[in-house]
Amino acid sequence: MNQLHIERCLPDGFLAAALRADAQAGLTAVPKTLPPKWFYDERGSELFEKITLLPEYYPTRAERSILAAAAPGIAAATGASALVELGSGSSEKTRLLLDALRDAGSLRSYVPVDVSESALIGAAHRVLASYPGLTVNAVVSDFEARLGLPAPDGPRLVAFLGSTIGNLLPPERAAFLARLRAGLREDDALLLGTDLVKDPAVLLDAYDDAAGVTAAFNKNVLAVLNAELGADFDPDAFDHMAVWDPQAEWIEMRLRSAEDQVVHLPGIGLTVQFGAGEQLRTEVSAKFRRDGVAAELAAAGFAMRSWWTDEQGRFALSLSVPA
Ligand code: SAH
Ligand code: TRP
Repeated sequence: MNQLHIERCLPDGFLAAALRADAQAGLTAVPKTLPPKWFYDERGSELFEKITLLPEYYPTRAERSILAAAAPGIAAATGASALVELGSGSSEKTRLLLDALRDAGSLRSYVPVDVSESALIGAAHRVLASYPGLTVNAVVSDFEARLGLPAPDGPRLVAFLGSTIGNLLPPERAAFLARLRAGLREDDALLLGTDLVKDPAVLLDAYDDAAGVTAAFNKNVLAVLNAELGADFDPDAFDHMAVWDPQAEWIEMRLRSAEDQVVHLPGIGLTVQFGAGEQLRTEVSAKFRRDGVAAELAAAGFAMRSWWTDEQGRFALSLSVPA
């Protein structure tokens, strides 16, 4: 019997309070910043899905090609009865894992975890309709606050795809991986998707596409602040920028103020001034190397067992177990 459960992991008002705190801290910092999880309201999640289809945005296609080849081996190596997916979004690529785990006969439940409730619930219904007999437990959560791991009922495979880990800053990544490790047992495993360091021109195009979808996605965070905090950001008064930082090896997404302007955020009683040309950092997207991924995993108590890349070496998937 197919079953869909929806669990809200966060206390009432948690996300609203977190958005207020992040906006207050980030917009009064020098330089100004905002954390990336606020991109993903309903429209933001739809824009991200459009990004995954852009010719310039290779990570989704590269990761899917790795999954297509590696999923049967991942299913055999893990024997997972539960597939937990952090930041699951549309759950589209996940089908390759669900297929392999189903074919291996071990799969009983799928647990997508996402902060974007609209994307999560739409995806959960679609998965439910395609996998007879599968229990889907959709968890609305901020994985940095609550991971939403199900109680063990057999081996759990935690998938964290799309290089979303690269959107966390290094200290946040370390804390996140350590917390995840603390929630896992010996027979669980972690499947991690990481975009790789490459020609900066290729990276910059992936985050600044010709059709302007990424620009619209980046500016959507301003629409979220307008909707949630009654702010009066004019998205047209900001320009989208993608910048490669060769030291940190990450792409920074920024919004550059086109003019001197004052923005009001009545929801938090804040008035912010932007100088002409001033840049607000909205996201980093770190790019990885194999040694760095292995070292970060080891520092958190994981041992990397497998590493796969696509044919062109653009993106990697790694499978790790508690060390
Ligand atoms: N895994 C999908 C989607 C990646 S986009 C893919 O590979 O294509 C990143 C996803 O993570 C979005 O769906 C976003 O809503 C979610 N997300 C971002 N920060 C989050 C957080 N702190 N907690 C939970 N979900 C988060
Ligand atoms: N995890 C994705 C990445 O870093 C998220 C993403 C893709 C993104 N394109 C974006 C985030 C543009 C902000 C802006 O590739």
